[in-house]
Amino acid sequence: MWYLMRSIEIINILSDGNVHSGVEIGAVLGVSRTSVWKMMSHLKDYGIDVLTVKGKGYQLNDPINLLDLRKLKESIGMVLDQISDIEIFHKLESTNQYLMTKKILDKSKFQVCLAEMQTAGKGRRGKEWLSPYGQNIYLSIMFNIEGGIDSVSGLSLAVGVSISNALNKIGVVSTLKWPNDVFINGKKIAGILVELEGVSEDCWKVVVGVGVNVSMNELPKNIIIDQEWTSLSLELGKQKLDRNYILSVMLAELVRDITAFKLKGFDHFKKTWEDKDIFRGKEVQSLTGNIKGIGCGVDSSGALKIKTPSGIKLVSAGEVVSVRYAT
Ligand code: BTN
Repeated sequence: MWYLMRSIEIINILSDGNVHSGVEIGAVLGVSRTSVWKMMSHLKDYGIDVLTVKGKGYQLNDPINLLDLRKLKESIGMVLDQISDIEIFHKLESTNQYLMTKKILDKSKFQVCLAEMQTAGKGRRGKEWLSPYGQNIYLSIMFNIEGGIDSVSGLSLAVGVSISNALNKIGVVSTLKWPNDVFINGKKIAGILVELEGVSEDCWKVVVGVGVNVSMNELPKNIIIDQEWTSLSLELGKQKLDRNYILSVMLAELVRDITAFKLKGFDHFKKTWEDKDIFRGKEVQSLTGNIKGIGCGVDSSGALKIKTPSGIKLVSAGEVVSVRYAT
């Protein structure tokens, strides 16, 4: 625990990207220069690369724009009233898993969990979600939805619309791949994982997890991702991206859209979802059930509609791929 706290203090000092001497860091932490040198090795636990600048001190390979609760709250605006709690962690197994173990504080509000890194980030269909320190957004938001199973159908697609709209506001145009992957120029930029737990017969506890690639320009050594991916920095250029601002835009959008979803259901989002659909009019194949045909939007529960020679078939689970282009 002591080393964890100290490592976080060192990351805070180095996050500006400047060179800081061992003496300077030691003075802030109240430890010797030699202890600072030993502590540097603990930053490896976060996958952080620290350069030793001979005769001068230490510097991060890339400056880190750390998550900051004060800055985040300042820019969220009015919807902050609808959020009962925002917790930020340096390291968690998974922000979704964390919230799934928590109780809702106020049934009418949203609870948010963010992390600088996840050691076991959860992706869809049992995959791991790569979550290196300080580079991306790992966000989970928890809330209650009243009603039977119908009251949550299409929710993950509505969240896809919300994240895609938030990205528009940040300056990038994105599309959606059924059910809820967010793409830019044919490459995945964000993923969504919705987890549910029945609280009572007519009430669901919902945790929506969102992972967005922000300043990840390359993958950590020995890591392979089995699909094409991109990040905001790759799309927008190497300009400094402020994760606190991006998060504030996303949270405002999510709170507004989930509130609308609770009142109006997926129908409210269907048209916008279809406008962003990368499969529309394309030849697609559902890997489960092996349905082949032309993508023609979604029904009011969020199931993908595929036009086949024997009529429209609905796909409500599994993976769908484009036949001509790898997606
Ligand atoms: C996907 O496979 O496309 C879904 C990825 C969802 C990743 C996010 S990151 C924050 C939240 N916590 C998790 O463990 N997973 C989600």
